[in-house]
Amino acid sequence: MSTDKKPGQSTLAAHAGYDPMSHQGSVNPPVYRTSTVLFPTVEMLERGDVKPYEGMRYGRVGTPTSKAFEDAVSALEGGYASVVSSSGLGACCTTLLAFLTAGDHALITDSVYGPTRNFANKILAGFGVEIEFYDPLIGAGIRTLLRPNTKVIYLESPGSWSFEVQDVPAITELAKAAGITVMIDNSWATPIYFKPLSHGVDLSIQAATKYIAGHSDAMLGVTTARDRPTYEKLKTTHYLAGQSAGADELFLGLRGLRTLPLRIDRHGQTGLALADWLAGRPEVQRVLHPGLPGDPGHELWKRDFTGCSGLFGFLLKTYSREAVTAMVEGMSLFKMGWSWGGYESLIVPGFHLPARSKRGWPDGVLIRIHAGQEDVDDLKADLIEAFARLAVAA
Ligand SMILES: Cc1ncc(COP(=O)(O)O)c(C=O)c1O
Repeated sequence: MSTDKKPGQSTLAAHAGYDPMSHQGSVNPPVYRTSTVLFPTVEMLERGDVKPYEGMRYGRVGTPTSKAFEDAVSALEGGYASVVSSSGLGACCTTLLAFLTAGDHALITDSVYGPTRNFANKILAGFGVEIEFYDPLIGAGIRTLLRPNTKVIYLESPGSWSFEVQDVPAITELAKAAGITVMIDNSWATPIYFKPLSHGVDLSIQAATKYIAGHSDAMLGVTTARDRPTYEKLKTTHYLAGQSAGADELFLGLRGLRTLPLRIDRHGQTGLALADWLAGRPEVQRVLHPGLPGDPGHELWKRDFTGCSGLFGFLLKTYSREAVTAMVEGMSLFKMGWSWGGYESLIVPGFHLPARSKRGWPDGVLIRIHAGQEDVDDLKADLIEAFARLAVAA
């Protein structure tokens, strides 16, 4: 751009990592389905960084397809550089692994995604890392938990089942003073609605499987580092641990990213409209959505986020498992599945909620909704029929 004005989110999403002239004018980069890369000379074979091979040495190490996706995500996150992983969980675990070693203490939010919690408890703890879970509402109170050997604080905000919003700047200010690396699972907001690195976070992680890919057809993760030293530390472990992503998944991730601002806006608006409507339903005890005024996380969300995605929860009044099952099993538009971020709406009953050690779950069945791209009135009609089944079965 010719002026000093920074490009907007949609412009960045459309153009970041975009280099048609390197690909004979093709708008999208070719999908490099590559394992072996061939070199004509020993010098090229050994160095791998000479023209035309820059960045291409072996498929796992990176291709123009992975670079285009990484560059685009880095631009949106406002970071130095990114690395891709084969799944969101792969990105969470690789990032933790890169900054922890035996004898270190790691503070992890109690609202963390369940499998990330399991990795910390089963793998990291097994390697001699002390794992401590903290209350996601702790804010600056995290000061009391810091120890001389605290090396990592791992956030997820909002939590993908409990939806608490964390006071990220309060935590990063303390962490910075103590030389602690802060990382966040930013999959709920995506970089479109929350910029962790501009709030002092060192590494932002995306389960790109969700909103970035956006069509429920790819598994992909990506971590963006704030600066070069942080990136190099991450990249070393990433390489040593054999992380990479498939060419077709990268293509789908980049393709999804181009329309992310548009899609997430629709997810967010539909989600908020449903949340607001559900809050007035007699069957509902409480809605968990930081975008709703009155939600405990609303003020922090308003301060730090620029929008909300389509994932939220609501707590039913007291109903039996059978009644809730009857409610969710007969839906016509909402489907049941352990994910979110796709174009289709999802509903999941939280009969077995993720483990928590600092903050229990409220009484009542928690239902998680992912608002898709459908018309909101059709989704409400589906929910009205579901509430009718709940009433009959109660
Ligand atoms: C908050 C959060 N982080 C990470 C992941 C892991 O992503 P993936 O399924 O791509 O491994 C998920 C998956 O549901 C998630 O909900």
